Amino acid sequence: MRAIVVTDQAAGTSGMTLAERPEPPAAINDVVVEVHASGYVPTELEWPSTWTDRADRDRSPSIPGHELAGVVTALGYGTTGLSVGQRVFGLTDWHRDGTLAEYVAIEARNLAPLPGDVDFTVGASLPISGLTAWQGLFQHGRLQAGQSVLAHGAAGAVGTMVTQLAREAGAYVIGTGRAADREKALDYGAQEFVDLANDSLEDIGRVDLVFDVIGGDVQKSSAALIKTGGTLVTIVGPPEARPADGLAIDFVVEADRAQLSEIVQRVRDGRLQTNIGTIATLDDAVAAFNPTERLRGKTIIRVRP
Ligand SMILES: NC(=O)c1ccc[n+]([C@@H]2O[C@H](COP(=O)([O-])OP(=O)(O)OC[C@H]3O[C@@H](n4cnc5c(N)ncnc54)[C@H](OP(=O)(O)O)[C@@H]3O)[C@@H](O)[C@H]2O)c1
Repeated sequence: MRAIVVTDQAAGTSGMTLAERPEPPAAINDVVVEVHASGYVPTELEWPSTWTDRADRDRSPSIPGHELAGVVTALGYGTTGLSVGQRVFGLTDWHRDGTLAEYVAIEARNLAPLPGDVDFTVGASLPISGLTAWQGLFQHGRLQAGQSVLAHGAAGAVGTMVTQLAREAGAYVIGTGRAADREKALDYGAQEFVDLANDSLEDIGRVDLVFDVIGGDVQKSSAALIKTGGTLVTIVGPPEARPADGLAIDFVVEADRAQLSEIVQRVRDGRLQTNIGTIATLDDAVAAFNPTERLRGKTIIRVRP
C-alpha cells in the first residue's frame, strides 16, 4: 500500500516521503480500515510515540496521522460491534502506524460509525479536535450552563470546537488568538475576542474555565483569572501555572465511541461546523504538510478520491 512515512525526527515534516509499505493485518480486536480521508496534527513529529513503541523501541519508519474516516475491510479475531463494509471514523493508537496510508489497523473500540450523509473528509477532521474539546470542557473542566470559558486559540482546530460546544452547553465564550483570527473566532460563536498581542487579558475579568492550547505566559496570565472553584484545562503538557483556588488539569485526548457519535450527530444537524483549511491528495500530502503560507484550520488528506 502507499503511505506517508517518517524516518528522521530532526528532519521534521520536510523528511516525510510517500513510500510503499506492507498492508497491516487485522490483529486480535483490530479492524482494518480502507482509509478514505486522514487527519494529521502538526506537532505529531515531536511526540515520542511517533518514533517508539510502548517499550521505547525504535519503530521508525513510522506512518503518522491518527484521525481517519474510511470503510472496514477486515475484522480481527474477537472483534465485535462493526462489520465489513461499514463506514467508520475515529482516532488511532499513538504508538502504532497511523492513517496517512491506504489501510490502517486499529482497535475496534477506537472507531464509531460514520453516518452515510457525512463526507469522509469531514469525518477525518473531527476525532482529535472534537474529542479534545469535548473531554476538556465536560470531563476535565466540568462545564455547566451559565459559566464562562476563556478559549485560547479560538480560530484553531481545537479552539473552534471548544467555542461551539461550550456555547451549545450554555456557556459564555471569550475567544483569543492573533489579530487576524478575530472574525473567524466570532463566526464560530465566541462572544468576545482578545487579540493576545495587543489587548489585555486582564480586562475580561474572571472566568470559570480556561481552555489552554498555547501554554507559557498566556497560560500563566490566564490562570490568575480563574474564579474560585474554576479550572485550568491545558492540552500542551503539564500545567505551568495553577489557579489560586481551583484545579489545573492537563490531558491527552482518548478515543471514545459514544463521544464520537455525539460529535458527528451535531455535525449532521448543523450544530457543529468543522474547521478544514486544506484538502490534499496522498500524492500532494508532503507538500501540504510543508506549506509556504501559514496554515489555517485542519489539513485533511483525501487518501481515496
Ligand atoms: N493534549 C491533547 O490531547 C491535544 C489534542 C489536540 C491538540 N493538542 C495540541 O494543542 C495545540 C493546538 O492544537 P490545534 O490543532 O488547535 O492547533 P491550531 O489549529 O494551530 O490552533 C492553535 C491556534 O492558536 C493560535 N496561537 C498559538 N499560539 C498563539 C499565540 N502565542 N498568540 C496568539 N495565538 C496563538 C494559533 O495561531 P497560529 O497558527 O498563527 O500560531 C492557532 O490559531 C497543539 O500544540 C496540539 O499539539 C493537544
